[in-house]
Amino acid sequence: MNQREIFLRHVAQTSASPLGLEIVKAEGSLLYDVNGKEYIDLIGGISVANVGHRHSKVIEAIKKQLDAYLHIMVYGEFIEAPQVEYAKLLTDHLPASLNSVYFTNSGTEAVEGAMKLAKRTTGRTQIIAFNRSYHGSTQGALSVIGDEYWRNSFRPLLPDVLHLEYNSFDSLKEITEQTACVIAETVQAEAGIIIPSKEWMVTLRKKCDETGSLLILDEIQTGFGRTGRLWGFEHFDIVPDILLLGKALGGGMPLGAFIADKNLMWQLTENPVLGHITTFGGHPVCCAAGMAALKALLDEGMLNEVKNKEELFSSLLVHKKIISLRSFGLWMAVEFENFETNKKVIDHCIANGVLVDWFLFASNCMRISPPLMIDENLMERSCKIILQACAMS
Ligand SMILES: Cc1ncc(COP(=O)(O)O)c(C=O)c1O
Repeated sequence: MNQREIFLRHVAQTSASPLGLEIVKAEGSLLYDVNGKEYIDLIGGISVANVGHRHSKVIEAIKKQLDAYLHIMVYGEFIEAPQVEYAKLLTDHLPASLNSVYFTNSGTEAVEGAMKLAKRTTGRTQIIAFNRSYHGSTQGALSVIGDEYWRNSFRPLLPDVLHLEYNSFDSLKEITEQTACVIAETVQAEAGIIIPSKEWMVTLRKKCDETGSLLILDEIQTGFGRTGRLWGFEHFDIVPDILLLGKALGGGMPLGAFIADKNLMWQLTENPVLGHITTFGGHPVCCAAGMAALKALLDEGMLNEVKNKEELFSSLLVHKKIISLRSFGLWMAVEFENFETNKKVIDHCIANGVLVDWFLFASNCMRISPPLMIDENLMERSCKIILQACAMS
């Protein structure tokens, strides 16, 4: 059997038609397959490779940590320098109330931990979420994702979850003294980059304050510079009670986090003690990699370039087949009339060395979320191929 056959037979499949590219090398914004074909990566592992694939500082930090120690003890018992230093660096770049970091292995685990913390803190059970939000695939996160198609087959899920319309003022009336928390993406990703109004976000924050409900902002895609600010919530002048991070947080290694005030977080230490447990969360190699990635993001001016790059993409991607282009930083949904057109465009792009895909809840929209360090030449080359694909689809 060749690699493809073994992949299909022995690696669990979640899609009837996986992309199935056999990549042997990744560097910056480029991937190379087993035949030496080059791909311009416009999806960055789905908003993971924000500082580029295999950033030299990330690789250096991983190698250094490999020579010191790998896993040594379950979460929260030993003082592990990579965790401590990364928690300090993150909180130095967050508002004062977000000062305590719980590291997880993934985004969905950050969602689980945050919802537990909200229930424990408020003594309430109701969780409010929004239609067309994506928060992960474990059963708690699945309970709050905003699409019945994905939820239905796995019921019973968490009880007392209410889904509301995102960016609707009317919806906010449903937040009451019964509500433990409201979980929202700062900008809805898988719905195809849906940007809420600032007024709505401010009203949501106010409503949570009035009812004593905790506001959880899922920045697993919007965080870490994707939107041109370090954190997405900075665009809206609000601060969540609990912030969720993942994806780019580990610089290419698996890492998530939920971050809150110490006054909330201490509740996981008693009644019951060990209120949230993980063996590998905050793995030292992942924290070392993530910290190197965050330093690179901050030190190499990547955030400052996001606006210009967003404008360049927007100015180049003009075609009569493109119905709209929604963008928020270096993060775009290119909208076509239907899935069929989108699929043809995507297939043509991939065949011609440009990696793009669609969104979970917006199959007629093409995703662009490249490494933030992508250069102008690669942006121009990839847009040319996308426009060719539009013309042929
Ligand atoms: C907004 C958002 N939240 C949560 C998750 C879940 O993260 P993970 O796949 O690391 O569990 C994702 C993953 O795509 C996401 O996009």
